Amino acid sequence: MILSRRNIRKLHGAAQLPALFQKSKRTFWTERYVSKHIINAHLDPTTDDASRRPEIIEKSAAWIAAQVGGGAGRRLIDLGSGPGLYCTEFYGHGFDVTGVDFSKYSIAYAKKEAARRGLPISYRCEDYVLTDLPTGFDAATLIYGDFCTLSDHDRDLLLWKLRRILKPGGYFIFDVFTKRYEESHHLKTDWYFQLKNGFWYPFPHLVLEQSHEYPEDDTCLNQYIVLPPWRKPRKYHIWHHYYSLETITEVLRRQHFRIEGTYGDLTGKPLEPESEWIGLICRRED
Ligand SMILES: C[S@@+](CC[C@H](N)C(=O)[O-])C[C@H]1O[C@@H](n2cnc3c(N)ncnc32)[C@H](O)[C@@H]1O
Repeated sequence: MILSRRNIRKLHGAAQLPALFQKSKRTFWTERYVSKHIINAHLDPTTDDASRRPEIIEKSAAWIAAQVGGGAGRRLIDLGSGPGLYCTEFYGHGFDVTGVDFSKYSIAYAKKEAARRGLPISYRCEDYVLTDLPTGFDAATLIYGDFCTLSDHDRDLLLWKLRRILKPGGYFIFDVFTKRYEESHHLKTDWYFQLKNGFWYPFPHLVLEQSHEYPEDDTCLNQYIVLPPWRKPRKYHIWHHYYSLETITEVLRRQHFRIEGTYGDLTGKPLEPESEWIGLICRRED
């Protein structure tokens, strides 16, 4: 019987609140079936689901290039580059570009696209928190809120690594979302049966979605429990640590990054009290 006490106890167990920043066994970014949906979402010019829309990406890359100053020999590394939408733009602004992403499907797409267009962009399929990346960059970018998905430990480790891969005075340019964004994009507690071709599987499955607040840590967990009928349930944790100007300034100060500019996004929009995003131009302090 589906609703046996044993099964309900199992579900109770699966739905328990994890410790802050506890990782789920799986990350959906790197799963084969889910990746196809993600690449389609990255490339869909009508949604902001995985990447921002093309006109914003173009504007943003041009603005970032103007902040850093492109030109021959200037090296830029884009962390979490996905299928390379920003890398292509940065190359067009004269940078020598490296893209890093741990999704082999996104990297395969990016490499194929670069080869098709004859662009000498270097792509690496790696976890930017765990791997030793090459050094000597003038700028590093991390775009579309990825910084907010990192635990405090991984975030500080990444900043420590960035100090090593950037040249003295090198730029780190990234965006974080604020509490206002988290409130307006809050995952509602919900469940649904997907009969076929869902986000998680191409066959029938049940999805339980819930978000949990960790207010003392400015963090929210989006938890997904996915139950296919003939496979083990899978659980995914997506952590959202939101920042204010004060909290992100303190994190960067402790890791020896100096903020040069703060904005409402990465196109240079002014930062307002109600901004959902903070775009940051920082430099490695020596
Ligand atoms: C929201 S998407 C943004 C992609 C790209 N920056 C853009 O805006 O088009 C986040 C990307 O970061 C990648 N990613 C997340 N964590 C990563 C990690 N630890 N190492 C490498 N890539 C990571 C994902 O695979 C995904 O492609």
